[in-house]
Amino acid sequence: MRPENERKLAVILGLVLLATAALCYTVLKPDAPEEPVRMLFKGSAGDVLFTHQIHVNEYDTDCASCHHNLDDGDEEYNCSECHEPGASEDDDVMGRTDAIHAQCIGCHEEMGAGPAECAECHATPK
Ligand code: HEC
Ligand code: HEC
Ligand code: HEC
Ligand code: HEC
Repeated sequence: MRPENERKLAVILGLVLLATAALCYTVLKPDAPEEPVRMLFKGSAGDVLFTHQIHVNEYDTDCASCHHNLDDGDEEYNCSECHEPGASEDDDVMGRTDAIHAQCIGCHEEMGAGPAECAECHATPK
């Protein structure tokens, strides 16, 4: 092989290795955690901090007690997928705010633990 051909080969080989490395990085990079640790809901009534992981690990609640659709084999975790923002257009399915209020406050009252008053959840109520 002539020297300039050898150099070309080396360059091509280098590019192939680089492409392989890039591909491995995209394919093998660690997954984002499936279950959020905590979430901050922002809105006109004041921010609400929700300790998502603590609710699962320490308050003895399983995924489907909130993501109730999982029972039907549905993998969707976002309430808005079915509960439309604000007041509902559809009488059969509550709007998102009502659905979240009903679930959070409903469980707190049922378990006799956790906040039920506006200001206990909403940090800066108006
Ligand atoms: C258990 C906690 C909790 C309690 C108690 C609670 N809220 Fe909320 N509230 C939330 C959460 C969480 C949201 C965010 C829902 C969303 O993102 O759609 C919210 C959303 C709202 C919104 C909609 C804000 C917006 O801009 O979309 C209003 C208005 C509201 N709450 C008022 C109240 C009032 C009034 C009370 C008392 C009667 C109350 N909330 C009690 C947790 C609570
Ligand atoms: C106490 C109630 C509750 C429990 C228990 C719970 N979640 Fe959630 N989770 C929520 C709420 C509320 C949201 C916010 C959904 C939204 O914003 O529409 C959420 C959001 C999520 C999201 C993010 C969805 C998105 O689109 O941003 C994932 C993923 C998730 N939960 C997974 C899980 C898994 C897995 C479990 C069980 C290990 C679990 N959750 C248990 C209430 C709960
Ligand atoms: C895949 C669609 C879907 C998703 C996602 C979903 N819901 Fe629902 N939800 C429904 C439907 C449909 C109903 C009405 C029929 C029923 O009661 O099952 C409902 C009913 C409810 C009710 C009333 C239950 C009752 O006993 O009257 C609450 C509260 C509720 N959802 C809260 C939530 C919350 C909070 C989330 C997100 C953590 C969520 N839903 C995610 C479809 C969904
Ligand atoms: C299935 C039951 C259940 C649901 C649904 C639920 N909670 Fe709770 N939550 C609890 C229990 C039980 C406690 C009290 C634990 C204690 O005091 O030891 C609690 C405590 C809390 C607290 C005070 C302690 C902390 O971890 O910050 C907040 C704030 C709270 N919940 C917000 C919410 C919000 C917001 C939602 C809806 C998005 C929600 N919870 C839905 C069971 C629930």
